[in-house]
Amino acid sequence: MSALQQEQVRSLTDFERQSDAYKKAIRKIVRSHAVNELYGAQVFDEPAIALAPTPYAKWLTCRVAMEEYGHHVRFRELGEQLGIPSEEMTPKKKRPLSIFEFPLKTWAEFCVIKLLADLAEILQVEDLATCSFHPLRNLARMTMPEERFHAQFGKDFTAELCKTREGRAAVQDAIDRYFPMLPAFFGKKDSANNEEFRRFGIKQRRNEEMLADYLKRARELVEKQMGLKLPKLDSDAKVRFDTNA
Ligand SMILES: [Fe+2]
Ligand SMILES: [Fe+2]
Repeated sequence: MSALQQEQVRSLTDFERQSDAYKKAIRKIVRSHAVNELYGAQVFDEPAIALAPTPYAKWLTCRVAMEEYGHHVRFRELGEQLGIPSEEMTPKKKRPLSIFEFPLKTWAEFCVIKLLADLAEILQVEDLATCSFHPLRNLARMTMPEERFHAQFGKDFTAELCKTREGRAAVQDAIDRYFPMLPAFFGKKDSANNEEFRRFGIKQRRNEEMLADYLKRARELVEKQMGLKLPKLDSDAKVRFDTNA
């Protein structure tokens, strides 16, 4: 069955009439977003409020943290309506993505995380914004302007840091250490999960297409627009590809 044959699922009542495989796939993706939005807010966004150097930066970081917790709340609420037990939507029960394993210590690192990881998230949300399950599609569309704000926040504060020599060096160093963690976020090439998501019209693109697009956009942003460098990715590097992608 191709994505074209998958009917549009406009409501929770429509959802109940779908096959078990469709329901399972939707629950998997909603659960993954609920877990990772919460974990990201806990390990990056909330601790970053203390790292922010000025009241203005703290204010905007509070807004970012509030929105990331808000994304968790929205995905969790949808998950509950789909019958996912609440405890399965916390990082205790379900392993979060590997991009959150980076030990956040500095403001420069946080700015780089928002610059690079939220760009990756934008690609995922763009893809979900046309998904066959409309409650999820609507949630993605609602989330999008906030994810764009987070990426812009990363770009603005990174550019601010780059005005001094030490700041620029700290940003480049954070990029060198964080960027190699990003490809795993898109999942494996020829992933069976991704194939099923596409068959059901939940996702539109293959993992490898998403990754190639991300690398192109990251290069444009970091190298062309900001005059910084992206480190070479070692294709032999041991990467734990994220499941559910
Ligand atoms: Fe988010
Ligand atoms: Fe975000």
